[in-house]
Amino acid sequence: HAADARRTDLMTITRHVLNEQPKHPESKGDFTILLSHIVLGCKFVCSAVNKVLLFLFPSTIGSPIAISTSIPPSLFSQAGLAKLIGLAGETNRRPFALLSLNQGEEQKKLDVLSNEVFVKALISSGRTCVLVSEEDEEATFVDPSLRGKYCVVFDPLDGSSNIDCGVSIGTIFGIYMVKDKDNVSLDDVLQPGKHMVAAGYCMYGSSCTLVLSTGNGVNGFTLDPSLGEFILTHPDIKIPKRGKLYSVNEGNAKNWDTPTAKFVEKCKFPKDGSSPKSLRYIGSMVADVHRTLLYGGIFLYPADKKSPNGKLRVLYEVFPMSFLMEQAGGQAFTGEQRALDLVPTKIHQRSPVFLGSYDDVDEIIALYAAEE
Ligand code: AHG
Ligand code: MN
Ligand code: MN
Ligand code: MN
Repeated sequence: HAADARRTDLMTITRHVLNEQPKHPESKGDFTILLSHIVLGCKFVCSAVNKVLLFLFPSTIGSPIAISTSIPPSLFSQAGLAKLIGLAGETNRRPFALLSLNQGEEQKKLDVLSNEVFVKALISSGRTCVLVSEEDEEATFVDPSLRGKYCVVFDPLDGSSNIDCGVSIGTIFGIYMVKDKDNVSLDDVLQPGKHMVAAGYCMYGSSCTLVLSTGNGVNGFTLDPSLGEFILTHPDIKIPKRGKLYSVNEGNAKNWDTPTAKFVEKCKFPKDGSSPKSLRYIGSMVADVHRTLLYGGIFLYPADKKSPNGKLRVLYEVFPMSFLMEQAGGQAFTGEQRALDLVPTKIHQRSPVFLGSYDDVDEIIALYAAEE
């Protein structure tokens, strides 16, 4: 029966994407190859995050003795990967910063390391031409000899304030198709989110979950560590039409505009007889959006007087998550327009965002409309 079939007939992410290929007759497997390099980056970060966690839980955090005795020396000497990512430095007592391979070199923060891994994996795929990463001020133009037709915008490690306490973090990515491979410019990535051909995120949580849309709905894959493969575990994700949760940094409430303030007030003191919503806020966009996608509700990072454009970045935070939300039957709004219609003019541009269950986002749209 079905469960048995799933155990022996594994729907890996590669197989899933290959199955979708007939829907794109022009495609020649390039997307599959690109995705496998993104997946490699995700597996690397997942592994690095888990090794950081290993350092986190010795009984006396910070004590050199506790750390050096509780991690078996074999882990350092055997684990090629630990060496590769620089965990093997025995003089490094800081549990959360990774020591790079060469002694004396600067310690690499996990977000910088993740960025390097993604940039190198994406370039070596031979399928990319422009890369925009949160960690790099400038866009990367791939050498013509390695150039392919895809542009990738990404946040290699999202939720960095949560790294040191072991709370879920993630990677976010969006993919555009270049117009003319021999004539590549920033305009290829300064495109509205609705032009993305795919978007997704990987969450490094209690399990490692990759959520992807290629424009045909949303699917979730969970990393089976024993296989090293992402297996389809959440087929055709649809967000509930209305949710019972809201997710926002209320510490900024003092500076909110009226529609946002009214919306949150309504979540807590509904006047239509409905129950108040519960508040959930992790502070990692990937984790907050993942929960919103599965349970329903709304996630907001609004504008405020101090940050008139909010905090989140259009290209590699707002767009990919908005793309996924729409593909799952939800909505994403900037306070002014459908988020995916926004045309960015700068690669690191920010925008307010309200995304989640269709009916919940409708409410905030109505409040902004009433303001005009
Ligand atoms: P990053 O770690 O990539 O810089 O992004 C952090 C973002 C996002 O993950 C999260 O939704 C938001 O910051 C939280 O911001 P506040 O701490 O202001 O609530
Ligand atoms: Mn981020
Ligand atoms: Mn980041
Ligand atoms: Mn950052």
